[in-house]
Amino acid sequence: MIRIVYVSVATKPFDDKELLQLLARCRASNTERLISGQLIYSDGTFMQVLEGPEKEVDATYARIKKDTRHTNVTLLERNTIDEKQFPDWSMGFKTLNREQLEGIQGYNYQFDEDVNGDNPFTSQLFVSELMKNVKNQYVADISREGAALHQADTSLIGYLNKLVNYTVLVLAALMAFVVLCGVAEIAAELYVMIKSTPYVLLSISGITSTFASFLAVLIAIDIFINISLYVRKHVIAVRLVVATALMAVARKIIVLEFADIQPMQIIAMAGLVAVLGFCYYYLSRLKEND
Ligand SMILES: Cc1cc2nc3c(=O)[nH]c(=O)nc-3n(C[C@H](O)[C@H](O)[C@H](O)COP(=O)(O)O)c2cc1C
Repeated sequence: MIRIVYVSVATKPFDDKELLQLLARCRASNTERLISGQLIYSDGTFMQVLEGPEKEVDATYARIKKDTRHTNVTLLERNTIDEKQFPDWSMGFKTLNREQLEGIQGYNYQFDEDVNGDNPFTSQLFVSELMKNVKNQYVADISREGAALHQADTSLIGYLNKLVNYTVLVLAALMAFVVLCGVAEIAAELYVMIKSTPYVLLSISGITSTFASFLAVLIAIDIFINISLYVRKHVIAVRLVVATALMAVARKIIVLEFADIQPMQIIAMAGLVAVLGFCYYYLSRLKEND
């Protein structure tokens, strides 16, 4: 593997669109050739690092040198390397204006110490330091943005979780209220039946409707248990849900007026009870095996 670093001067200034087009072309071609690196454009000057298999990098550099969009292509470094400096970048890219360039750590030092003549970009040390700094700054920016995003993300999720928990608590309170109302209703029904003339303790139809009311309250209690299990342990007790559904269907069956319904409705209900019964049986077996 080799690394090549060169600088060049654009024949005419590149605008953003031209730079993006060039970059798209570089990335596609470099990915195919296992080449990675970085391209920096600063006020008409290109600096590029190319790393990868020797044959591919040399061939690419030969093509780049012939490109008429830039001139004064000056090779600053051509070294054999064991490890890539830009392994994950088919072509990292950054445009830098003079101010940003000066903001890059080490710019002044390199500029003062290593530059021959007026153009800092002819210094191999300066360019390779610049490349490293741009990369490090880029990586730091990305991880800072990533960390900020992550923090925003987790605090948002935290708020939403709290909101859901409060909602579940409100549901639990409402359910407890429904249970109490159901019990009061049953007590009132029984009281009216017992008091009503001709003082028969309970008629058959009265007993049936009282059963239905009991079952309705039991269903409400099951739902309440489900909600409180969710609040305390964040689990949904599937077996309990199936049992509640079974109870709801059974309640319907208890109050059915068989004279008023179609045979298909009875068959459908039988199917529903069979399926729910099987689910309950299966879940119970699973629990036993646990
Ligand atoms: C500053 C600059 C950097 C370039 N970098 C690459 C590069 O990394 N990889 C690449 O395949 N082509 C790069 N190119 C484009 C090549 O010069 C050339 O246009 C391209 O490889 C297509 O070559 P071809 O027309 O001979 O196939 C670059 C061109 C310029 C001006």
